[in-house]
Amino acid sequence: MKTITPVLSGQRPKIPLFDLKRQYGRIAADVRRAVCRVLDSGAYILGAEGRGFEADFSRAIGCRHVIGVSSGTAALRVALKAVGVGPGDDVIVPAHTFVATATAVSETGARPVLADVDPETLTLGEPQLRAALTPRVRAAIPVHLYGYPADMDPIMALARKRGFKVLEDCAQGHLTAYKGRPAGSLGDLSAFSFYPTKNLGAAGDAGAVATQDDALAQIVLRLRNVGRAPRDSNRHEIVGYNSRLDEVQAAVLRVKLKRLGHWIARRRKLAALYDKGLAGLPVRTPLRGSGGTLHAYSLYVIRLDERDALAQHLAREGIGTGVYYPLPLHLQPAYRDLGYKEGAFPQAEQAARTGLALPIFPELREDEVRTICKAVRAFFA
Ligand SMILES: Cc1ncc(COP(=O)(O)O)c(C=O)c1O
Repeated sequence: MKTITPVLSGQRPKIPLFDLKRQYGRIAADVRRAVCRVLDSGAYILGAEGRGFEADFSRAIGCRHVIGVSSGTAALRVALKAVGVGPGDDVIVPAHTFVATATAVSETGARPVLADVDPETLTLGEPQLRAALTPRVRAAIPVHLYGYPADMDPIMALARKRGFKVLEDCAQGHLTAYKGRPAGSLGDLSAFSFYPTKNLGAAGDAGAVATQDDALAQIVLRLRNVGRAPRDSNRHEIVGYNSRLDEVQAAVLRVKLKRLGHWIARRRKLAALYDKGLAGLPVRTPLRGSGGTLHAYSLYVIRLDERDALAQHLAREGIGTGVYYPLPLHLQPAYRDLGYKEGAFPQAEQAARTGLALPIFPELREDEVRTICKAVRAFFA
């Protein structure tokens, strides 16, 4: 995952923000067996592993169709193209998200139109979406940021009324729950990233598109594979991309998917420990959710005015942190041409100024969380 970690010396922190090697150490035998099975098979692209993963993940998120692609960005691009987004269209994107949510829109030739985020959830809310609507809006992309779900029901109601499509950006939303339903099954289409640090991470780049819609699934199948007809490889029915998921990544993902439920439960347990350990301090801890709406803690992001000073303090204590994202999209040089000014999206700007991600991953130990809470307490003492 893309991050800025304030590091004072060149040394690796004692407690890193992520530690992928800890996870690999626990599942190495299974991962190696799965990868060797692919290498021995001689089938490396669009084979049994990919199909198996698509079926497994479709069950996990309760969505009829899952189509593996080469990254989360590719998933967004393919999903946008599947609903016909292209030049002349506007797509609403929250100003506080990873830049790929917007670059995928730009790649289609459409214009990203930015919206502020809800001050509580930090995701795109219906009022912010409504305020950003333009006559040319073709789609909107709520992002389940840090693993907390966007409030999808009012967003879907507005979309149905105004005739635009909704694509969920689930890059950080694996097994996030919204009113008892898994993220990824709620919009017209959804885009998952399996970037290695995500809740479900591959051993490289990988992603998936999910949808309940049979016709859209057929289009996505073609778009990810240079427009090919599924049963005639020399017939190209639409102009597509090479955005395929490879077999090695699919095999790794299948091994990990079996443990995903357990890993998310562990993240929730660690988050509850943080919530308790940080109680009473002048920091805002993440929303927990209630009534079937559950955080999946892809990141555990606290908010405080002295963010940079706390990050420096934790770095001195050997604790890794990250800032997601220090510059909102409307202030990114790449999007200068959109013409937004500082102050345009106050909630996104505040989130960018105050958010600090503390270490969270399933293999993080409880004593490490206690050490981190103690270090945060010492900062305020
Ligand atoms: C919110 C969000 N959207 C999109 C992406 C893009 O995913 P990928 O890096 O797999 O292309 C990411 C991942 O970094 C993300 O966090």
